[in-house]
Amino acid sequence: MDRKVVIMDHPLIQHKLSILRDVDTSTMEFRELVNEIAMLMMYDATRDLPLEDKQVTTPCGVADCKVLAGRKLAFVPILRAGLGMVDGALRLVPARVGHIGLYRNEETLEPVEYYCKLPGDIGQRDVFVLDPMLATGGSAIDAIGQIKKRHPRSVKFLCIIAAPEGLEALKKAHPDVDIFCAGMDDHLNENGYIVPGLGDAGDRIFGTK
Ligand code: PRP
Ligand code: URA
Repeated sequence: MDRKVVIMDHPLIQHKLSILRDVDTSTMEFRELVNEIAMLMMYDATRDLPLEDKQVTTPCGVADCKVLAGRKLAFVPILRAGLGMVDGALRLVPARVGHIGLYRNEETLEPVEYYCKLPGDIGQRDVFVLDPMLATGGSAIDAIGQIKKRHPRSVKFLCIIAAPEGLEALKKAHPDVDIFCAGMDDHLNENGYIVPGLGDAGDRIFGTK
């Protein structure tokens, strides 16, 4: 099956993304919007989960229903900013949660790993990697590389805003990973920030600027 790159053009996602970008949006509202967008994105990213039949007794009879076929999921946020997407994703579907801590060296823009804790049975799970920003792609490429060493069933990457540079790099490094994003932006500036973007996602989620 061909890998998918999905730009999520649902009106609710696009509306919320516009508020998220606004420099005047408060930390509290920003955090809530990141979770809401993550939930809406997860709705689409889980569209191919397999179902199985189940009969359910209703007050008026028996209904032939469908339920998720016991498929096991894992969400892996890239710290810090990816943490902002976890609650929204978990509101929609249960999953184990792993964590990968990376920060970008401000000069080289290369990712530096400082933490990695993944579910022990990640090899039997479909993994959704969460990070609001795909800039150079270095962090996502590195995180997915760490996860793939444990041989998960599949890996999908969800970001809110992508730069063309990061998207191309990620596609090349991990051709088997489906990529979902809400906004595809113009370019990176000289500091590796996405333009127009939304600024520093971690700082805006946690109010650290
Ligand atoms: C941000 C963002 C990504 C990364 C994207 O994290 O959340 O992880 O930058 O950039 P890249 O595609 O060029 O690697 P940052 O390093 O600012 O750390 P933080 O989440 O702790 O603020
Ligand atoms: N990380 C962010 O938080 N924002 C960007 O624009 C690029 C990397």
